[in-house]
Formats: sequence, C-alpha cells, structure tokens
Amino acid sequence: MAAQSLREQFDNLLGTLNPGSIFGLDIGSHSIKVCEISGSPGKVKVERFGVFTLSEAAIVEDEIQKPSEIIEGISFAIKQSNIKSKVACIGLYGPNTMTKRLNTPDGTKEEIEDHVLWEAEQYITFGADDSKIDFFILGENEVGGKDTLVAAAKNDLIENFLELVKGAKLKAKVVDLNVIALSNLFEEVAKDNIDEFSSGTLLLDFGAQTTKVVIYKRGGPIFTKEIPIGGGLITEEIQRQMGVSYEEAEDLKTTPDENGNFPEEIFNIINSQLDQQIAEIKKNINFYVTQGSAEKVHYCFVTGGSSLLPGLVDKLAAVTGVPVERLDVFSSISVDERKVGRNLDQLAAISTVAIGLALRKFN
Ligand SMILES: Nc1ncnc2c1ncn2[C@@H]1O[C@H](COP(=O)(O)OP(=O)(O)OP(=O)(O)O)[C@@H](O)[C@H]1O
Ligand SMILES: [Mg+2]
Repeated sequence: MAAQSLREQFDNLLGTLNPGSIFGLDIGSHSIKVCEISGSPGKVKVERFGVFTLSEAAIVEDEIQKPSEIIEGISFAIKQSNIKSKVACIGLYGPNTMTKRLNTPDGTKEEIEDHVLWEAEQYITFGADDSKIDFFILGENEVGGKDTLVAAAKNDLIENFLELVKGAKLKAKVVDLNVIALSNLFEEVAKDNIDEFSSGTLLLDFGAQTTKVVIYKRGGPIFTKEIPIGGGLITEEIQRQMGVSYEEAEDLKTTPDENGNFPEEIFNIINSQLDQQIAEIKKNINFYVTQGSAEKVHYCFVTGGSSLLPGLVDKLAAVTGVPVERLDVFSSISVDERKVGRNLDQLAAISTVAIGLALRKFN
C-alpha cells in the first residue's frame, strides 16, 4: 500500500474544501458534542457548541450499539448549536486506536515516514495492515533525531464512525484521535506557560466509560492510554444500590442540593467508587508519579464530565503527590456565555475534546 497519511487520504476523498469551515465532533459514550471555533492559534473563541445526551449503552467500548440514535443526536446537537458547516473533524478512541512517540533519525519527511511504517508492524497491536497510520513531527530532540508522534486507527473503526457522519449528512475532513485532540487543546489553553508544562504534565479526561491519560512532555504526548473506568460505573452502582433507573441515577449523581451537598447515601457511593477508580489510575501512572523517576510529571490537569465529581481533585492530589487542578479551558479560550447558554464549569469539563478537534481547522 502506498504510504499515505490519514489526512491526505481524506483530502483526496473529499477534494479541497475550505478548512475554515471545519467543526469538531466528539461522539462520546455519554453524549455527543459539537463545537465551532473562530480566531487563530493563541486567540481562539468558541462560537458555537451543542450537546446531545445519549441513552444508556448507545456506545459500548467502541461498538456503536444504537446508530440511528447517534445519527439523530449529531443532527440535534448541530441544530441546537446553529453550526452551518457540513464538514467535521471527528475523534476516534478505544482499543483499536493507538499513539506512540518515536525517536526517528533526522531526515526528510519521506525518510521519517518510511521509518514510521517500517516499525509500525511491531507496535500496532491491532494490525498495521488493517489500519490507517498518521504521524506528526514534533521537532528536534536531544539525541539528534526527531520526536515523531505516530497515531493509528483500525480501518473498521474509521469506517464505522464515517458511517455515522454520513448518516447525519456531513463529511469528515479530518479524522483525529481524542487523546491527541486533548493534548492539542491543552497546548492552546496552557500556551503562556507551555515550556514549564513541557517538563511533564499529566492530563486526565474522566469520561463516562473511560478515563483518558495523556502524559505531555517535551512538546507533545509521550504516553497515552485509555483506562476502562469512568463516571458510568458510579451511575451503575447508584442504580444497583438505590434500585433506580439509569436516568434517575444520573440525576442523583450530578445534582447536589443548593449548598453543593449530596444526600449521604449518594455521597458514600460516589466516594467509595472514586477511591477504587483513583487507585486503578494510580497503578497505570505509577511510573510517572514516582519520586526519582526520570519521566516524573510535575502537574496534573483534569477534565471530562466526571472530573466534576465531588472530592476527585483532592483525592487525586493525595495519590499523585503533584498539584491537581481542573483544566480551566475558558481562562484562555474565549466564549460568549449567552450564545452557548450553559454553566461554564460544566461546559469546560465536557467540551475539551470537541474544542481540541475543532482546533484542527488551523492545520
Ligand atoms: N456535574 C457533574 N458531576 C458529576 N458527574 C458528571 C457531571 N456532569 C457530567 N457528569 C458525568 O460525566 C460523564 C460524561 O462526561 P463526558 O461528557 O466527558 O463523557 P463522554 O465524553 O460522553 O464519555 P467517554 O469519554 O467516556 O466516551 C457521565 O458519566 C456523567 O454522568
Ligand atoms: Mg469523552
């Protein structure tokens, strides 16, 4: 197969469209988010944002269980947001996606590409031959080579997601990975201090079905992983213990009283589930938070809907030993609250991947 990047393939497929019109489409397991931005790198504004909450188990892992609901959901979110563009950058995730940071020998883009493809067989566990592979040269490294970030996704997965996009009468101009979108968004938000954060920062996206881990270091992600835990397990536990429906349990989990407190039973479930989840995360990131590790991180930022759970930030700070903060997306990306019409803390938490995908209009 002729080596062709994901981006080139889609460019060829769709012809040259005006990149300015691309919007971000994050098909999450709990909700679909769409986002359109304006401005330029370093000066980004969220113009439009829409969200559609899916029913229980519409997507399980990366399996599309309820395609018609998802297609309707995409159309609903677009209509709600007033996005006029028909060209999306979509984000993929799950076990049939991967990233790897390589040290490639210095050389032309073609030589680096050869190197990436040559090694691909070794590290793409779901089969390099059945995958699309893309790479980004991050820059020179200390050992005289180039830091190169490789991203791959299995063809079947790409096709399944493109079917959804087509079903919603849209086109996909760029196909990205959610973990890379997260890293790109972080760079945009943290641009004023990016050199400092480049010494090692842990980004965690607490979603519904998975928690996405990105270790950002030396100008890009050096490690990405999805851990199969998230807020959905807490909802399930509330359903089980309280004998309520999925919707009722979601409501109980996300709606504290006017003072921000939860009924004791609900709080106890959240608390014990969170302890278990954070212990699981700790196992996965141990190498990066251990004193003396050469790859130690110095900061941690959390995002995703489940990052709003009470106690999460403090518990995480206690187990990692590094300062933990919610990623304050709107500290450096502007937004017109009247236009997007929702609580900004909630919006910041759920919109990161969609904004990160929308950023691809700039390149
Ligand atoms: N205010 C809140 N407090 C606690 N949990 C919340 C809150 N808002 C949303 N959640 C939870 O966050 C999760 C949804 O977050 P998010 O939108 O980031 O997930 P997703 O992107 O759809 O899922 P995934 O990334 O796992 O595919 C759900 O489990 C939801 O119950
Ligand atoms: Mg998500």
